[in-house]
Amino acid sequence: MFHSSTMPRPRKRPRPEEASISRHDEAKFLDVRIFLVERKMGSSRRTFLTQLARSKGFIVEDILSDAVTHVVSEDSQASSLWMWLKGCALRNLSMMHVLDICWFTDSMREGRPVTVETRHLIQEALPEVATPTPVATVSQYACQRRTTIENNNRIFTDAFEVLAESYEFNEIDGPCLAFRRAASVLKSLPWAVHCLRATQDLPCLGEHTNAVIEEILQCGRSFEVEKILADERYQTLKLFTSVFGVGPKTAEKWYRRGMRSFSDILAEPSIHLNRMQQSGFLHYRDISRAVSKAEAWALGNIIDEAVRAITPDAILALTGGFRRGKEFGHDVDFIVSTPEVGREDSLLINIIEILENQGILLFCEHQTSTFDMSKLPSHRFEAMDHYAKCFLIVRLKGSLVEGGLQMGEEDKRDWRAVRVDLVSPPMDRYAFTLLGWTGSRQFERDLRRFARSERRMLLDNHALYDKTKKEFLAAKTEKDIFAHLGLEYIEPWQRNA
Ligand code: CTP
Ligand code: MN
Ligand code: MN
Repeated sequence: MFHSSTMPRPRKRPRPEEASISRHDEAKFLDVRIFLVERKMGSSRRTFLTQLARSKGFIVEDILSDAVTHVVSEDSQASSLWMWLKGCALRNLSMMHVLDICWFTDSMREGRPVTVETRHLIQEALPEVATPTPVATVSQYACQRRTTIENNNRIFTDAFEVLAESYEFNEIDGPCLAFRRAASVLKSLPWAVHCLRATQDLPCLGEHTNAVIEEILQCGRSFEVEKILADERYQTLKLFTSVFGVGPKTAEKWYRRGMRSFSDILAEPSIHLNRMQQSGFLHYRDISRAVSKAEAWALGNIIDEAVRAITPDAILALTGGFRRGKEFGHDVDFIVSTPEVGREDSLLINIIEILENQGILLFCEHQTSTFDMSKLPSHRFEAMDHYAKCFLIVRLKGSLVEGGLQMGEEDKRDWRAVRVDLVSPPMDRYAFTLLGWTGSRQFERDLRRFARSERRMLLDNHALYDKTKKEFLAAKTEKDIFAHLGLEYIEPWQRNA
């Protein structure tokens, strides 16, 4: 679960004689205080260069603090160096020289600190890519943050997600939500947190989350998280809920009945599995393996072909995690619709028929539409929307996938089972459905929370309602919805909150 290679090393306190210049060398250049960045340089080279510089009368600091004037790095990747520096919460960073090792070698050769020239500087890359959001402006709402799939704080967010899940299993909503929000804030940062100070102005972080961050910074891991991961109840619920069709309630029920493994469940005659769960067990190995982007595209082609055969003017869109640019997902999500309002239900049924005739439908649960505009707005948010939809397991042939299937080494089959979701809203509801199904879940939660708390509006997958004006706000595109909410548009690939 933790990636040991990215774990920060526990910081050692420097021994006093190392702390500044050693007694035998005399500091000659008092207004230059060098810090050598160990990343890419390595610790033995750093020690060697430190001793060399000190023997020539340079002051070399062991710790990066605001006292440092010259930061020297062998890291040629400016953006990653700057990200790291920004994570160190320095007040003086803008005053420091951030220099390539060539400044250091020039200075050693000359026996004095040479004047800093442009060629020595490691410049911060183009603002668009590298300027981190100023800490003070990070919003408490995920829909006001831009979160790509790059997560610079995975060691913390992985830990928070375990804690959130554990609270969820115990139905303790407050802390569960708090850890989810904290994880989401850290995911949005373009820099990695290197010390607790760097988090002090961030929203959604509290005493408990900070304690976990501090522990991970110091020890590389959180003991509270390790305890959960080793806990039998947590492990069992995690295992059971990994089966398609098994939610926390069912998992809990089985656990209380003494079930601890899949074979316990399958051997227990009094446990009745529904159709979804039966298929979940039957295809467990395949559908618990991540779906790749190439596999998602291949499925897109299959569905597209089916849709074209039914009606040429139908609309098909990839949504869910793949629309957000994820490389892997647990399923593939599509929206299908047609300009003919009222045709949505039969469109889905037609698609299912075609897949069935092709012999590639391994499982299908179809839910007909219960959508009724006159029952809106809905004041309590329901997990499911009311559109026609189906949850499928589709047989995908490897020959259709560019680069082949995502398979284990030992598996020599030329097909795999993949989970696919299709939802079919009426065309005039398309924008709301697309926004709702693109996710992430945290992004959606915060969109609705923002609408309610900041705008007195109700948003769900069906509509946006303005409580002040007592009217529905129409939208053709996602941009229209963001505009109604007075939010800057956030691209799908920036919604990985
Ligand atoms: N969703 C929804 N109503 C449902 C099912 C899903 O609104 N009945 C939305 C969820 O809010 C989610 C999105 O559809 O944001 C996609 O759901 P899901 O496939 O579970 O998650 P992904 O973000 O696609 O993650 P993964 O890559 O693991 O599939
Ligand atoms: Mn998905
Ligand atoms: Mn899905």
